[in-house]
Amino acid sequence: FQHGALAGKRVFITAGPTREPLDPVRYISNHSSGKMGYALAEAAIDAGASVKLISGPVTLAPPARAECVQVETAEQMLAASMDGIDSCDLFIAAAAVADYRPVAIAEHKIKKGSEEIMELRLVKNPDIVATVAGLATSRPFTVGFAAETRDVIGYARSKLARKQLDLIVANDVSNPEIGFNSDDNAVTLVSAQEEINLAQASKRQLARQLIEQIALYISRNDSS
Ligand code: C5P
Repeated sequence: FQHGALAGKRVFITAGPTREPLDPVRYISNHSSGKMGYALAEAAIDAGASVKLISGPVTLAPPARAECVQVETAEQMLAASMDGIDSCDLFIAAAAVADYRPVAIAEHKIKKGSEEIMELRLVKNPDIVATVAGLATSRPFTVGFAAETRDVIGYARSKLARKQLDLIVANDVSNPEIGFNSDDNAVTLVSAQEEINLAQASKRQLARQLIEQIALYISRNDSS
């Protein structure tokens, strides 16, 4: 592990799910454990970075040496991501952000009615990583994730382009041994020019390999 590979760098990492309230007692969310994002935060700190970890609700202990910001909704995650973004050198979006949120949050608990079918109205959430990658000034090096069940590299490449990312970490979540909630993962790091396969390993080991590779791309960027 290249020690000090991110020395002096300010790194923001989003992690975990977002939680979108429907009323005071209910929400829409997903099964993201936050393990990959938290492992990336640890690895970035070990590589010498100063890390802000912006996390949705998870059961993991926050890394001791990271600045941790706890959020619930996508809108809160966006606000925490943009706070101080001018000083950010590397932005890694590992969070599983809810694509939609309820149009309105009911003030009181929604009561069960006589109807058999109930419809929820949802509105699209802001795309956090695309917002950061689209910044006109002081845009950080931006890395996203793509969890896919088929044509993994194809969809990852189209997200890389559409969201204007520098790199995207593609993983095949159709394999139950890896991905959401599991301790292991296997990923492909995709740039506009190349693909780097990282074989199945613990999320901790993979995070260290990913940080090492990302740091290489940044040092090539800095020297060009
Ligand atoms: O489009 P999709 O959700 O598959 O893209 C995944 C990538 O985009 C991840 O890096 C995720 O953290 C990020 N994302 C985001 N804000 C959203 C949706 C996704 O930052 N609203």
